[in-house]
Amino acid sequence: MINSLNMSPIKIRKICCIGAGYVGGPTMSVIADRCPELEIRVVDINKERIAAWNDSDLNKLPIFEPGLDQIISRTRGRNLFFSSEMKKSIFGADMIFISVNTPTKTKGLGAGQASDLSWLEASARQVAKYANGHTIVVEKSTLPVRTAQAIKEILNTANRENQKNKISKTFSVLSNPEFLAEGTAIKDLENPDRVLIGGEDPDAVKALVNIYLNWVPRKQIICTNLWSSELSKLAANAFLAQRISSINSISAFCEATGADIQEVATAIGMDKRIGNQFLCAGPGFGGSCFKKDILNLVYLSGYFGLPEVANYWNQVLLLNTWQQDRIYKIVLEKLFGTVGGKNIAILGFSFKANTNDTRESPAIRIASDLLEEGALLSIYDPKVSFKRIREDLEQFSSNNQGTWKMASSIPDALENVDAVLILTAWDEFFGLDWNSLASLMRSPAWIFDTRSVVNRKDIEDTSLNLWKLGEGN
Ligand code: NAD
Ligand code: UDX
Repeated sequence: MINSLNMSPIKIRKICCIGAGYVGGPTMSVIADRCPELEIRVVDINKERIAAWNDSDLNKLPIFEPGLDQIISRTRGRNLFFSSEMKKSIFGADMIFISVNTPTKTKGLGAGQASDLSWLEASARQVAKYANGHTIVVEKSTLPVRTAQAIKEILNTANRENQKNKISKTFSVLSNPEFLAEGTAIKDLENPDRVLIGGEDPDAVKALVNIYLNWVPRKQIICTNLWSSELSKLAANAFLAQRISSINSISAFCEATGADIQEVATAIGMDKRIGNQFLCAGPGFGGSCFKKDILNLVYLSGYFGLPEVANYWNQVLLLNTWQQDRIYKIVLEKLFGTVGGKNIAILGFSFKANTNDTRESPAIRIASDLLEEGALLSIYDPKVSFKRIREDLEQFSSNNQGTWKMASSIPDALENVDAVLILTAWDEFFGLDWNSLASLMRSPAWIFDTRSVVNRKDIEDTSLNLWKLGEGN
């Protein structure tokens, strides 16, 4: 643990971030905003993505995050630059963040569980090749424990070759995992619960601490060894996901017994030892992180000879898929055992509100299952594009008996449907005028509310049937 905070002898002037995705883009935008003296270059191999980051129309930024457009309008072209110029951006940088994707491996040893580190390795090799002088390399991506060792080996190999050629290059590797959640990324980055920095080189650690000190109080910056930092990120995501599986398991219990999940969540959440966050029952967790990171934890547990630990965490994932299957089966059962040829509206396709991200969204599995049963879906989401939905559904299922179309508004989605299934808690789905919407739907129509957005008293004077997740009769 490093406590003393003397000035670091390393002065950071130029930063490069490899990877302009959901983490790299917002993270670097906030650093640029809070540290105007730093020059930050965000590079990506995806030229289309870079072009979108540079689009003068801020509505066309590649990701949607509340508040991001304002920060980009302040920083872009001032001290924040997006480009595909890898060599130039790495060459001039004092500090390089690696923020590339680390998805689950689909082939080879560990397929389906271990992280695919090919993008990370390619980035490390680029850094080894193009860096100049002393460079601090920061792992921003979420990585398996002990990955920093592999990065060091790649960098040191390059170092040995450079020494032969009398070129001076040295590296320090730090781990600085990112805890932002999508939809609240800017808020989380500007006001983080904590910043975690793992590393062995105290000067490099101090240099990174000094950057965060521009807006994060010192007591919220934790410095640990490399492996604790890498493992803490996986463990934090596993704990969060575990809470969701726990509350979802209780939601099924509520439906079976007449208890109410909202009441139960409030009652247990008021215990300070439990806390009230992450107790919203829903259609299961989605997003690019929870499943991937737990799978990785499961894989590593097996690798380190801890099968009981692996089984324990795997159960969090099994429960999550079960919850999605359960919802699909309830829709089927309430619609008299068949959805073939029936019109069903899906409200919300992103994995949570306030993001256009659909990775691992529960909507993908549930919509695909309904399509396989022959349902005719009209899908409405305020931010997710037609192209994204098409790719998600095509990738997930090859045996669609039904069809789907994109709706342009909530009334458009509900036109002539037998049921509406609410899968994301977008603000605009709350407080709807169900009286007038009911007249668009085919009677007797159902509302299936998996996110607790519908107030039962708002449908009292309509012919609608309401099923709410976690609400027993
Ligand atoms: P992403 O897929 O949105 O972005 C990664 C980007 O890296 C892509 O644009 C890709 O083209 C680029 N890239 C890959 N290899 C490259 C290379 N060699 N050179 C240049 N660019 C390259 O991923 P993301 O959601 O930003 O996640 C990045 C990492 O952060 C992952 O490890 C993830 O687990 C972690 N993380 C994500 C979140 C989140 O909410 N999305 C939160 C915390 C941590
Ligand atoms: C998560 C972590 O929260 C974040 O710290 C980490 O850096 C990345 O992974 P993210 O996946 O973006 O962030 O969103 P999060 O708010 O955690 O939601 C994940 C999923 O869980 C969503 O599908 C959400 O709807 C669901 N969820 C969340 C619930 O079902 N109930 C809850 O109470 C909270």
